[in-house]
Amino acid sequence: MSSPLEGAGFRLRRAAAEDAEFLANLAANEEVSPFLAVMSPRDVDSFLDEIEAAEAASHERGRFVIEAVGEDDAWRAGSVAFDVTNRRSRIVHLYGLMLDPRFRGRGLARAATELFTGYLIRDLNFHRVELECYGYNERAVHHFDQSGFVKEGVKRKAYWRNGEWVDGVLFALVREDLDALRN
Ligand SMILES: CC(C)(COP(=O)(O)OP(=O)(O)OC[C@H]1O[C@@H](n2cnc3c(N)ncnc32)[C@H](O)[C@@H]1OP(=O)(O)O)[C@@H](O)C(=O)NCCC(=O)NCCS
Repeated sequence: MSSPLEGAGFRLRRAAAEDAEFLANLAANEEVSPFLAVMSPRDVDSFLDEIEAAEAASHERGRFVIEAVGEDDAWRAGSVAFDVTNRRSRIVHLYGLMLDPRFRGRGLARAATELFTGYLIRDLNFHRVELECYGYNERAVHHFDQSGFVKEGVKRKAYWRNGEWVDGVLFALVREDLDALRN
């Protein structure tokens, strides 16, 4: 098991089999579920499969648990994941970001996303991190906009959700964006 990524008052650590139930419960939360991609893992078995696949290829994929850290304790607050989409050009897909509603609105999502993105680019040496969220997910669109991602386009009426066609909003962040932020 690799070392956790440490942030201020939180950490990101690779998920283990014991986290599968927490992840499934979070994915089923009514304030999370409508915003996850239809194909995202949702039940304990699919999270177990995902965790096992990541253990076998930790540079190519990973499911992380976001933990809020206090003086003497830590609480599982959310999750985020990645997988490689293009090895040659070092492109990685960020997906499955979710935060327990009790931990929202305090900057944790933004700090965790920034730490995770830095890890993918600086530690794992990817060049481009990309993601997609539903157009109706205004909170996530704002979140990624504020977390250094650039909105690159909209797939109009791309997905059939809840009886209507909805947009997909495409975001990406490249290594040069991180360098520019640092300077
Ligand atoms: C996306 C998510 C991780 C963001 O975490 P969060 O703690 O809610 O983030 P914040 O509370 O910092 O809110 C993000 C920003 O959106 C703003 N916001 C909140 N509700 C909003 C809304 N309905 N429309 C637009 N902006 C909104 C907040 O004011 C905040 O902006 P600020 O940092 O400029 O003040 C969390 O909402 C979540 O788990 N959502 C469900 C799963 C999901 O959508 N995942 C992403 C899939 S692509």
